[in-house]
Amino acid sequence: MLILVACAVCLLILAGIVARRWKFQQPANFEIWLRQQRAIVDFTFAGLSPSDKEGKLLRRARANRRLVSAFGIDNSLTTSSVDVHDNFVKWSSKLISNPLRRWPVLFVIAESVLKHDVENAAAHRGGQILLADCVRCLCLIVVLVDAYDVNLDSISPDVILTITREINRQWLQSKCDPNVLRSDLLASSLRGLHLTKKLGAEESVSEDTPEEALGFIMPQYETLWRVVLLTFVTAYHRQARAEDIERGESVPDCLGYPQREKEALKLAKEGLRLYPSNKRIYRAATVGDEKQLVSADVEASHRNPGIWGADALKFRPERFDVLSKLQGQAYFPFSLSRHRCPAIAGFGDRMVTMLVVALGTALSPKTGKILFNNGQLDGNPEEPLPTGRDDMESWVLQLRDVSGP
Ligand code: HEM
Repeated sequence: MLILVACAVCLLILAGIVARRWKFQQPANFEIWLRQQRAIVDFTFAGLSPSDKEGKLLRRARANRRLVSAFGIDNSLTTSSVDVHDNFVKWSSKLISNPLRRWPVLFVIAESVLKHDVENAAAHRGGQILLADCVRCLCLIVVLVDAYDVNLDSISPDVILTITREINRQWLQSKCDPNVLRSDLLASSLRGLHLTKKLGAEESVSEDTPEEALGFIMPQYETLWRVVLLTFVTAYHRQARAEDIERGESVPDCLGYPQREKEALKLAKEGLRLYPSNKRIYRAATVGDEKQLVSADVEASHRNPGIWGADALKFRPERFDVLSKLQGQAYFPFSLSRHRCPAIAGFGDRMVTMLVVALGTALSPKTGKILFNNGQLDGNPEEPLPTGRDDMESWVLQLRDVSGP
C-alpha cells in the first residue's frame, strides 16, 4: 500500500514538472514571460516615465553597489548621477568608434600573446595551458591595447595574470560580501601599468587612477572573457563543424566592413545567445530597499526551446540568417532600449569574433586537446558547457606532442 501511495505521489510530481515545462514552452505563455523580462531590462516594470533618467540609473546603481565596494568604480553602471553617466557613455562611444582602430593589428597582438602561451606551456608546464587564465589575460591585453597608450613589450605577463586573478577574486568575494574591501594588490598592479587613455588628449592627459582604469576596463573585459572562452571551446572543440569555422576564415580582414563581416559575426551572435555575458540583468525593485532586487533571465530567454526550437542548446550560427519576430525579441545580450550597451552597434560582436578566431587558430584541435577534468564533459561533446564564473578554472588545453606533467 505504502509503495502504491509513493508511486502515485512520484507520478503526480512528474506530471507537474512536465506540465510546467510544457506551459513554459508554449509561445503564448512565453510571450507574457518575455514581456516581463524585457520590462525589467528597460525599466518599464517600475512605472517610471521614459524621461526619468535618474530614477532608472538609481535602480541600476543600487543593483550594482557591490562593484563600488569591491573595485571603487564610478561609471554608467554604478552611478545615479546623470552627468557621470552621460560623460561615461560619451567616452565609451568615442572609444568604440575610434577611426584609428585596425582589427588586423589587434589580431596580430592576440596571436603573439597566444604564441607566447603555447611556447611557455611547452617549455615549462608539460604542455598544459590553463584556459581560463589564458583567455582572461588575452582579453585584458587586447582591451588595454585598444583603449590605452601601452607598450606591450614593457608589460610583464605576470602582472596581467595578477590583475585578472585579483579581479576574479574580488568579483567572487563581492557576491558573498557586498562590502568587501578593495584589493591593494590590484590597485598597485594597475598603477604600475601607467595607463593613459589613447583618446584622452582633449579631456585629460594624466594617467588613470586604478579606480578610473577599472571603471573603464570592467564593462569591456568582464563582458568578454567568459563568452569568448565558451564560444571558442564550443565552436572549435565541442560542436566543431567546417561551416562554422569557415565563417571565420576572412577574420580579421573583413571586420569593420558591414557586407563582408556579416557571416563571421554570426559566430559572436550565436556565442552571445548561448553564453550571454550578463546571464541576468538586475534592477532594484524599489529605491527604498537596495537589497530587494528583481532580475531578467537573459540566459533562459536565449535558450527557450519554445522559441529557438528543439536544438536551442546547439551551437548553430546559421540560425542568425533569419530570426523570427519572437526570436528577435527574445535576444538581448546588450540590454534594451535607451540604456543598452553602446557596443551593440557591431563593436561587441567584432571583438568577440576576433578573439574567438584568434583562439581557434592558435589553439585548434590540431594543436591540442581540451581536458575538462570533469567526467561528463570529457565523455560527451554534446553535454552543454557550464557557465558559472568559476566553472572553467580546471579546464586545460594539453598540447599534442608534449606529454603532461
Ligand atoms: C560583448 C561585449 C559586451 C556586452 C555583451 C555588453 C553588455 C552590456 C549590457 C547587458 C549592458 C546593460 C547593463 C544593465 O543595464 O544593467 C551594458 C551597458 C553598458 N556597456 Fe556594455 N557590453 C559589452 C561591451 C562593452 C564595451 C566594449 C563598452 C565600452 C567600450 C561597453 C560599455 C557599456 C556602457 C557605457 C554601458 C551603459 C550604457 C548606458 O547606461 O547608457 N560595453 N553592456
